[in-house]
Amino acid sequence: MGRPRVRDDLATIPGYHSPQVAVDVRLNTNESPVPPPQDFTEALLDELATTPWHRYPDRDAIDLRKAIGTHHGVPADMVLAANGSNEILQAILLAYGGPGRSAATFEPTYAMHAQIARATATNIVQGQRRADFTLAAEEVRRIVGEHRPAITFLCSPNNPTGTVDPPDLVQATLAAVADHDGLVVVDEAYGQFSPHSALTDVRDDRALAVTRTYSKIWAMAGVRVGYVVAPSWLIADLEKVVLPYHLDVMTQAAGRIALRFVDEMHARVAALVEERGRLITRLSDLDVDVFPSGANFVLFRPRDRSGDQLWQELLDRSILVRNCASWPRLQDCLRVTIGTVAEDDRFLDALEEILQ
Ligand SMILES: Cc1ncc(COP(=O)(O)O)c(C=O)c1O
Repeated sequence: MGRPRVRDDLATIPGYHSPQVAVDVRLNTNESPVPPPQDFTEALLDELATTPWHRYPDRDAIDLRKAIGTHHGVPADMVLAANGSNEILQAILLAYGGPGRSAATFEPTYAMHAQIARATATNIVQGQRRADFTLAAEEVRRIVGEHRPAITFLCSPNNPTGTVDPPDLVQATLAAVADHDGLVVVDEAYGQFSPHSALTDVRDDRALAVTRTYSKIWAMAGVRVGYVVAPSWLIADLEKVVLPYHLDVMTQAAGRIALRFVDEMHARVAALVEERGRLITRLSDLDVDVFPSGANFVLFRPRDRSGDQLWQELLDRSILVRNCASWPRLQDCLRVTIGTVAEDDRFLDALEEILQ
């Protein structure tokens, strides 16, 4: 039997590579180091005890959308929830990208923007962040002016650099895409760490969508919930491409119930910000370059050896961080997620021992 041939444009693209290795200390995927509160788990289990498993879930996930809308002060028809924000990004690219259209990214940034663009046969145009990884409005205007992308991605705080974009960048980008009726997507997977959010800029007369996730600071990476806040006409377009009943009852319930624990979420953010400060202080005493971070991870680069070597030396000590070698311009950079104090100490002690 001959094998069917994958689409020509997919044949050479690599999949998403972030190795999942069994280690003692996992600091590679920017998860919360602690689970949600016990009361969350109990409330979820209580609700699931009476779930009619033989029935499809609510196809519109309306209660979840209402709860997210209330959380952000917008109506439910300005919200779409999905299996992680990656599914939202995919829906956006399916609806507004595709053959003959392009999406703009500003590198280095979250690799899935370009990856999902490729999978949806959307052309990618890449602008560049500055040497310090901040993003200049002139660069956005240049790329948008030259290529007229259907979708322009911003990401703030940016993964994997940790950079927080200035608030007026969103306005500048919206102004730049207005000429050709483009869409601006701001990925705020780490938005709770930022002093400002593009959520306040979302309005019915603006082509702006803001994506968020429960995977990071809501401590729910295992559930797979993400969402977008956008004008209702844009949500209606995304509904055309999501599969029917894509959000199961457990996911819908988990996403809704989590929002009862907002104070605990804020407490986790505050604790992580404090721990990030401690980690950066200790990192700064070592022979590494450290980049400023407005998220729950820190990008750093060893001065005396390659990133690949240091990544392996940490792995040999059962500590997993993200090797950023595959990102453009991040040769030799590693990204460490802020963990518990104990996990971070294991990482810092190991790093000290390796680098001394
Ligand atoms: C910037 C950014 N956006 C989106 C995601 C996707 O998150 P999820 O699909 O788990 O919601 C991630 C995950 O690492 C991320 O870093």
